[in-house]
Amino acid sequence: MREEQGSAAVEGATDRAPAPGQLEAALSLSDAATARWPQETHHLDPEIYLDAGRHVREEQALFRNLPIAVAPSAMLPESGSFLPLDDHGLPFILSRDSEGRVHAFVNACRHRGSRLAGESEVQCKARIRCPYHFWSYDLSGQLVTVPREEVFSDLDKSSLSLVRLPVAESGGIIWVKFAPGSREELSVNPQLIGELSALGVGQMHLYARRRHEVDANWKLVMDTFLEGYHVIRLHSTTVGQLFADSRSCVHTMGLYLRQTSPRPRDFKRSMVESARDSLSELRRAVVFVYTLFPNAVLIVSPDYVNLLKLMPQGPRRTIVENIMLTEREPSTERETKRWEKSHHLTDELSFPEDFWSAQACQQGLETGVIDKVIIGGMEQPMKVFHDHVERCLAQST
Ligand code: FES
Ligand SMILES: [Fe+2]
Repeated sequence: MREEQGSAAVEGATDRAPAPGQLEAALSLSDAATARWPQETHHLDPEIYLDAGRHVREEQALFRNLPIAVAPSAMLPESGSFLPLDDHGLPFILSRDSEGRVHAFVNACRHRGSRLAGESEVQCKARIRCPYHFWSYDLSGQLVTVPREEVFSDLDKSSLSLVRLPVAESGGIIWVKFAPGSREELSVNPQLIGELSALGVGQMHLYARRRHEVDANWKLVMDTFLEGYHVIRLHSTTVGQLFADSRSCVHTMGLYLRQTSPRPRDFKRSMVESARDSLSELRRAVVFVYTLFPNAVLIVSPDYVNLLKLMPQGPRRTIVENIMLTEREPSTERETKRWEKSHHLTDELSFPEDFWSAQACQQGLETGVIDKVIIGGMEQPMKVFHDHVERCLAQST
């Protein structure tokens, strides 16, 4: 069973100590045999998943106004390369210059507006060249070459750099704010960054990327990663067999959430006690799920992580990219097989079940007969997340 979870110890993997918050959260869990869930009920208005006007407000208050996790550092590892990304509402390009600094630009040429680069794949080139008339830009966005420059009068190349987006690379994640032209310095909650750094997200290897299209509101997709109630039920024939119906806990770091759940069915708090100095050991005892508010989920398995990016395409449609990062590039057949199996179990089996449930809820809510969505004690993190959404909407009006 452990092997199926990818939980065998990784030979030669660098171990680290857990961050204080990770250890504290794991220590707050009770033994599986005695764990009790809180008894509580909250309600959500179904319109939050259906209303088109509300969706526009969410795009503005959340997706254009907060740092958005757009890629792990492992997706753009090389200096002197760039990566166009399309599904975030505004097509943009991430680049890493020769000094390793990351930049983000809107994917539009300053000549006549052509899209500069397609394909969401890394290109190892020192110039971003427009395919139309070959204006070319360096990786910091400066316009460097204009063919037959003499045919333009008063062309000031220095004022025609690509339009920037604020960007930061921290905790092994590249964050972008979709505020074109803004000079804002982005910063992300230091506790969250400390925990991502403890996990070594920045040193991980890009194992796989896969895009899923889900016909559901983005929050319905997020909801399924915000509660453990469904795990042994919806996933009864896949990952549900690996977990107990046991108590998890949720903590906030600003708008970000960390859920901590026991991993083995016979979980005992003593397993955490003996993992105080070893994050590898702690990751075999508990699962951490981070909500990188508003748009991403980071699920921490023993020797790999999944970063799921949710990219709303309208009130009823979401593109999800599942990015699997492993501790390192697989170097043995055994490792390759284990990670292949983990990828199959998550990307092809359990995540599609989650996406299916989001679509099923969208369809059910659209009947109009459900007057309230009910949240119980096993779905507490949903309540926390939705409160954060409401708070951001209220602050932006
Ligand atoms: S539109 Fe890009 S070079 Fe003309
Ligand atoms: Fe699930």
